[in-house]
Amino acid sequence: MRNPWIIFFPCIFLLCNSFTNSTPLFPKEALPTKSGYLPVNPATGSAIFYTFYESQEPISSISETPLLIWLQGGPGCSSSLGNFYELGPWRVSENQNSKEIKLEQNPAPWNRLFGLLFLDNPIGVGFSIASNPDEIPKDEHAVGEQLFSAIKAFINLDPSFKTRPIYITGESYGGKYVPAIGYYILNKNPYLPISEQVKLAGIAIGNGLTDPITQVGTHALNAYFSGLINEKQKTKLEELQSEAIRLTMMENWNESTLARTRVLKTLQNMTGLATLYNFNRQIPYKTDLVEKFLNQKGIKTVLGVNESMVYEECSEVVGTALHEDVMKSSKFMVEYLVKNSKVLLYQGQFDLRDGVVSTESWVKKMKWEGIEKFLEAERKVWNVKGKLAGYVQKWGNLSNVVVMGAGHLVPADQELNSQIMVEDWVLDRGLFLKNAKVFKAML
Ligand SMILES: *[C@@H]1O[C@H](CO)[C@@H](O)[C@H](O)[C@H]1NC(C)=O
Ligand SMILES: *[C@@H]1O[C@H](CO)[C@@H](O)[C@H](O)[C@H]1NC(C)=O
Ligand SMILES: *[C@@H]1O[C@H](CO)[C@@H](O)[C@H](O)[C@H]1NC(C)=O
Ligand SMILES: *[C@@H]1O[C@H](CO)[C@@H](O)[C@H](O)[C@H]1NC(C)=O
Repeated sequence: MRNPWIIFFPCIFLLCNSFTNSTPLFPKEALPTKSGYLPVNPATGSAIFYTFYESQEPISSISETPLLIWLQGGPGCSSSLGNFYELGPWRVSENQNSKEIKLEQNPAPWNRLFGLLFLDNPIGVGFSIASNPDEIPKDEHAVGEQLFSAIKAFINLDPSFKTRPIYITGESYGGKYVPAIGYYILNKNPYLPISEQVKLAGIAIGNGLTDPITQVGTHALNAYFSGLINEKQKTKLEELQSEAIRLTMMENWNESTLARTRVLKTLQNMTGLATLYNFNRQIPYKTDLVEKFLNQKGIKTVLGVNESMVYEECSEVVGTALHEDVMKSSKFMVEYLVKNSKVLLYQGQFDLRDGVVSTESWVKKMKWEGIEKFLEAERKVWNVKGKLAGYVQKWGNLSNVVVMGAGHLVPADQELNSQIMVEDWVLDRGLFLKNAKVFKAML
């Protein structure tokens, strides 16, 4: 029998590095089906970076299999965070001892039944290219316009994409991007021949910022009733909130954004939490692993990106370009979308930024003929495999889901339940069935 030390010793001293380097950091089976660039301005070269994963187990012919598009928040954060940390088929994981970052298979990715497309939005974010900083959007209309070009370019990559129903999904600041592109599509389609239209079927927003003027007013009460601040702190926070609301009403977009930041910073300071994104976490989300992973040698090349690019999880340049957009509302876009497509709102329960109360506060103000009925609809208990998974409230085209045991990054905290949620919503199954009474998800 060979002495195992012969194998281990050299590794301890010298050769470990060469062993890890020879480990394929990006196994072949983890590669996206397609990735690269979608032009948004061919004249200048500005382009949106994408990764696309085909459905693993489609239940219909590919030309009918839904396509989900995912948009990260920020403003300025890359959808590769969603891909490699939340809902993609392969996610980063750090070896506690060697600190090596590898990809591990996600047991419940969102591309099980559907095609899944991640877009680094807008240009300037992640691997996307802003040839000229002036081309970076400063408002949601420009965001919609660029995304529309990118989505059209994507659809043109493969004839089967043309007929597939499209669902736009996203998180956080995606609460503004997702309605913006949905709204843009609905307004653009009537001017296009049917074969050229984007087949928008629905939008989904996770822990979204959609109507900031309403949402910024909810932090104090939410934290107070969660036992995180006392009455004196609540009063102080309410003063800061009122200032943010006042500045927003005056359309002082720059100052109102700063005022909102002060609210969140004060809440962070008062509570001393590891992160406002999830008050139940002892350590913040480790999205920096994605940044470390993507900047390792050789990874960019396999994704179709120039090795000279430096990947940042969030772009400050883009964040600054959209600074005056932050407090502007996308609520009117959701009101239009709910009349013309399905709308899913979902929130992880532990989020203190754009959580359950924050979302409900603007939803109940929606100008939509179904809103009374929606607010009257029963909030159903949602179980998965006999365990409480959350709550679902639905009427007509609007669904709202609370995901238990999750914070701001729902698929990172509850991968399986988030997968079941999105699958059932797209396919009108389970609690998303019309008049569904009781449903226990079956696997
Ligand atoms: C926004 O306000 C900050 C702080 O008052 C200021 O430094 C900055 O120049 C302003 N930006 C714009 C675009 O007005
Ligand atoms: C909150 O801010 C105060 C004053 O700046 C500081 O002394 C204190 O350490 C902060 N608390 C936390 C939990 O960060
Ligand atoms: C990569 O980027 C560098 C620096 O911008 C450029 O010189 C080079 O031509 C690019 N390589 C490719 C293959 O496009
Ligand atoms: C719901 O959306 C569909 C399109 O998916 C639309 O035809 C219908 O009118 C909408 N329903 C309501 C009540 O707005």
